[in-house]
Amino acid sequence: MTSRSDIPPADGHSFHGKSGFLPPQLYRYLVTHGSPTDDILADLTAETAALGGAAGMQIPADQGALLTILTAAIAPSRAIEIGTFTGYSSLCVARALPPGGRLLCLDVSDEWTSIARRYWERAGVSDRVELRLGPAAESLAQLPARPTFDLAFIDADKEAYQAYLELLLPRLNPNGLIIVDNVLQSGQVLAEDGAETEASPNVVAMRAFNEALARDRRVQVVMLPVADGLTLARKLP
Ligand SMILES: C[S@@+](CC[C@H](N)C(=O)[O-])C[C@H]1O[C@@H](n2cnc3c(N)ncnc32)[C@H](O)[C@@H]1O
Repeated sequence: MTSRSDIPPADGHSFHGKSGFLPPQLYRYLVTHGSPTDDILADLTAETAALGGAAGMQIPADQGALLTILTAAIAPSRAIEIGTFTGYSSLCVARALPPGGRLLCLDVSDEWTSIARRYWERAGVSDRVELRLGPAAESLAQLPARPTFDLAFIDADKEAYQAYLELLLPRLNPNGLIIVDNVLQSGQVLAEDGAETEASPNVVAMRAFNEALARDRRVQVVMLPVADGLTLARKLP
């Protein structure tokens, strides 16, 4: 018999909700057969949880581990993140950067990113992370429109994802990777025949984004069933 109590406690792995398409026991098996998180990520998760409902925006530990592994494999000189919140994903990327590597974080919230800044300090990565506060589309448009980044993570307002893609692609090196979060929208991207409730603006936007990206000849795309769905898009040379 499976129950929610089968899921590991608040150690950064207790995010079954984001992988709700997996039975809880299978999710538990999955996370307990990955490397454990450390105290810094666990403390950040606990502090973020104390924020209440907003804490649901934090990426889960399995997704964070994937970000770290991809960053270490790609060894980007420059990485960029759209949607930093309290800093979990940025820590996962920043810690795996090669010597001299830099991460640019874009967010609108001074309050939430002030938590991120404390954890960058604690993790010893402040020197390689730059935070720009303001609407991400404006921050992106102000960057030089030439290939600069090797890795990008998009995890902010869903209705702007297509705009972010268009702003990122010219700034991405050939073979650079864009990682896009929440592409499955808890499964709601599937149009249900006879559905009585209207799809939310986020779901409508994500459906359109996913369809356009799958047809986009500038990138090679794979969608992974990690957390709430993660798309990897490689910029074709
Ligand atoms: C889902 S959270 C990001 C979670 C984060 N990646 C993590 O690992 O915890 C989304 C973030 O996007 C930010 N955001 C929303 N709209 C934005 C915009 N137009 N420009 C920049 N940031 C935005 C929010 O302030 C929030 O911190």
